[in-house]
Amino acid sequence: MAIPTHTLNDGTALPAIGFGTYPLKGADGVAAVQSAIAVGYRLIDTAVNYDNEREVGEAIRRSGVAREELVVTSKLPGRDHAYDDAVASVHGSLERLGLVHLDLHLIHWPNPSRGQYVDAWRALVDLREQGLVRSIGVSNFTAAQLERIIEATGVAPAVNQIELHPYFPQVEVRGANERLGIRTESWSPLGKRQAPFAEPAVAEAAERHGVTPGQVILRWQVQLGSVPIPKSATPERQRQNLDVFGFELSDDEVAAITALGRPDGRLFGGDPDTHEEM
Ligand SMILES: NC(=O)c1ccc[n+]([C@@H]2O[C@H](COP(=O)([O-])OP(=O)(O)OC[C@H]3O[C@@H](n4cnc5c(N)ncnc54)[C@H](OP(=O)(O)O)[C@@H]3O)[C@@H](O)[C@H]2O)c1
Repeated sequence: MAIPTHTLNDGTALPAIGFGTYPLKGADGVAAVQSAIAVGYRLIDTAVNYDNEREVGEAIRRSGVAREELVVTSKLPGRDHAYDDAVASVHGSLERLGLVHLDLHLIHWPNPSRGQYVDAWRALVDLREQGLVRSIGVSNFTAAQLERIIEATGVAPAVNQIELHPYFPQVEVRGANERLGIRTESWSPLGKRQAPFAEPAVAEAAERHGVTPGQVILRWQVQLGSVPIPKSATPERQRQNLDVFGFELSDDEVAAITALGRPDGRLFGGDPDTHEEM
């Protein structure tokens, strides 16, 4: 199955859909990531705080897929925002993954109360210069936080990975990303346990296109221009989630799903201006 790619603002290619790995761990976690690569995922999303970088590295080694075909993403935790800590943290990720470079590394949360995300960004800029990380980005950044790191360094993130699903369609942050040339990635793209599979806007589109509600939601993500990273431990669902490039939603169908958004639609209240995650 050929997966389209986006060209990021640094010239690198990012698959239009990826595989989320939280909370896959242990032998089952290795098997799930290995299966995801076998069914065709090439963008893999992990983080220091998922405590599964070793499992992801093991799955990559077992996959038999050439390293240059994979886009391996990890994330810097809030406790490592100081410049030297950020550098050490990335070296730790590489060691656990068993890789000599990361393809994409993100600041996991801005943690504004610590006031160090600009230092963390400077460290990622330097690590990219040194070739340890090919592309650098952020996660859970607001428009104001994006503007602050760009103003401080002159370097825009390649990616901003944000909570994005039908109940929280993130119109404003998507607009800011687009204006600043940053590719949006969607975490919890299906809406996790509160997946809106039964919503008429989703279920009726699924019926019309002969696909599943999950495929409709992921296709909606793709047509918004965002890169969803669904997690599934099940090979059949992994395959199904990847298979969203053979049909197209109408503008009205896209709009009807976006209209499911609500102000309190966040899954757990993860407001980047206040949420602390170390
Ligand atoms: N940057 C951040 O702050 C942040 C925060 C949260 C998550 N993330 C990343 O985003 C990834 C995805 O988010 P998520 O795992 O929270 O949510 P999600 O991908 O929206 O949903 C995952 C859940 O949906 C189920 N599922 C998957 N495919 C399905 C299908 N086709 N039909 C029915 N159910 C399906 C999965 O169960 P099964 O496994 O049983 O299939 C799992 O329970 C994470 O793995 C992580 O990599 C990042």
